Amino acid sequence: MGVADPVLVVDFGAQYAQLIARRVREAHVYSEIVPHTITAAEMAARKPSGVILSGGPKSVNVESAPLLDPAIYDIGVPVLGICYGAQLIARQLGGRVDNTGQGEYGRTTLTLTSNGPAPSVLFGSVPPEFDVWMSHFDAIAAPALGFRVTALTAAVPVAALEDPRRGIYGVQFHPEVAHTYGGQEILKAFLYDVCGCRPAWTMTSVIEASVEAIRAQVGGERVICGLSGGVDSAVAAALVHKAVGDRLTCVFVDTGLLRAGEADQVEATFREQFNVDLVHVKAADRFLGALDDVVDPERKRKIIGETFIRVFEEAAADLGEARFLVQGTLYPDIIESGTKDAAKIKSHHNVGGLPDDMQFELVEPLRNLFKDEVRAVGEELGLPEEIVWRQPFPGPGLAVRIVGTVTAERVGILQAADAIVTEEIRRAGLYRELWQSFAVLPVVRTVGVMGDERTYAYPIIIRAVTSDDAMTADWARLPNDVLERLSSRIINEVPGINRVAYDITSKPPGTIEWE
Ligand code: XMP
Repeated sequence: MGVADPVLVVDFGAQYAQLIARRVREAHVYSEIVPHTITAAEMAARKPSGVILSGGPKSVNVESAPLLDPAIYDIGVPVLGICYGAQLIARQLGGRVDNTGQGEYGRTTLTLTSNGPAPSVLFGSVPPEFDVWMSHFDAIAAPALGFRVTALTAAVPVAALEDPRRGIYGVQFHPEVAHTYGGQEILKAFLYDVCGCRPAWTMTSVIEASVEAIRAQVGGERVICGLSGGVDSAVAAALVHKAVGDRLTCVFVDTGLLRAGEADQVEATFREQFNVDLVHVKAADRFLGALDDVVDPERKRKIIGETFIRVFEEAAADLGEARFLVQGTLYPDIIESGTKDAAKIKSHHNVGGLPDDMQFELVEPLRNLFKDEVRAVGEELGLPEEIVWRQPFPGPGLAVRIVGTVTAERVGILQAADAIVTEEIRRAGLYRELWQSFAVLPVVRTVGVMGDERTYAYPIIIRAVTSDDAMTADWARLPNDVLERLSSRIINEVPGINRVAYDITSKPPGTIEWE
């Protein structure tokens, strides 16, 4: 999707870089994250309307400190530095940053100063004193020439600084976190009043830009879209359908690794409600055959990723050579797989799991969007609530929730348990609140006693997490009565299960899926 005049968030290794980009988008301004190694020429080529420097874990005074190409300060684009970003501005433009021996962490009172002819444009909507969220050890001791100090705290003499003539601003606190009073208003002041952005990034504009970009990419050719039943591929398909109409064929692959009832729901929504040309490939035997005796999670993922592509290639050949394949890849998928020095944790089937010799050109209309934005686009396009608000489901399906070998019998057990989890979580009104809630089937068996008889059977592990974007997650504190119903129903209704456990691991150190 071609998006003009973005606000670029330069990532210095912050925990909050994603959050800054989201906050900018929530102000209806398009934003993307870029690495700190970006050069001034690359930056200028993107024609940003503003640049935000994120926080970061390093001290600006150490040799390995990530720096910004200093020429970026002179390309005539407003810059806002946050935390490390503010210290970098001070240091790179001639000020001083010291290790004062006294950090500030958490809630801190900020006091605006009355230096200069008028208050800072950033602070137009906040009172003279308010609470902000701090997280730093070093502090700016002296601003560079031309800068004025616009706020301080009891511990640091420079908590905000600016040179409005050059359009360069810095705040030591984190306006992007909810604990900072008026933080979003401060960001908006930078975006609207300093950068001159307009709040034009709306779901309608996203859809229009995306439809245009899809048409430009595929011209008059045929397109196929792998539909999984999840929200991402459904929204991607609906967007492409809007762009190319009946030149789109959706291919729904029943891998035999889906949730109970999923195939019927996809048919009902896409064939019957949206009148989309839908090919339903029943490939359970093929997937299960390819997974025969495979235990290693990465091998499972690669095999499934490759089998998907082979099925799509055959479907495309049947349709008279469709060259384009639509995928519902999201922005966090790109960011996660794009961090060059991040360790590989697992190969997502639609990014790292693709075979090298794949013939398709990919169409990825959601690659600039976060999950909540995808849901908003889905709602705007009129997709049914059950699809838009469906919890995420991994492409490799139940195969990565069955530890050890995947057989039709074990898939059946997990489907039955999973259906109970979904039903009870919905009944408790928790389905939307939770990022995901599902069942896992491990490989161990344990001893139990049922009806006076010894049992030796598998447990089901229940996993329920809260999250904003799946990068981090916390285990959900499910009410005891819900846990109790889950336990008793699964043991009573799912043959072959004699025990239920609840996974109380956050991410990190766990991942959301078990494999
Ligand atoms: P993890 O397990 O890495 O998962 O914490 C993060 C999120 O991604 C989903 N997931 C996948 N989604 N293809 C997908 O489309 C995959 O291969 C895949 N693996 C994990 C997972 O369900 C969670 O929401």
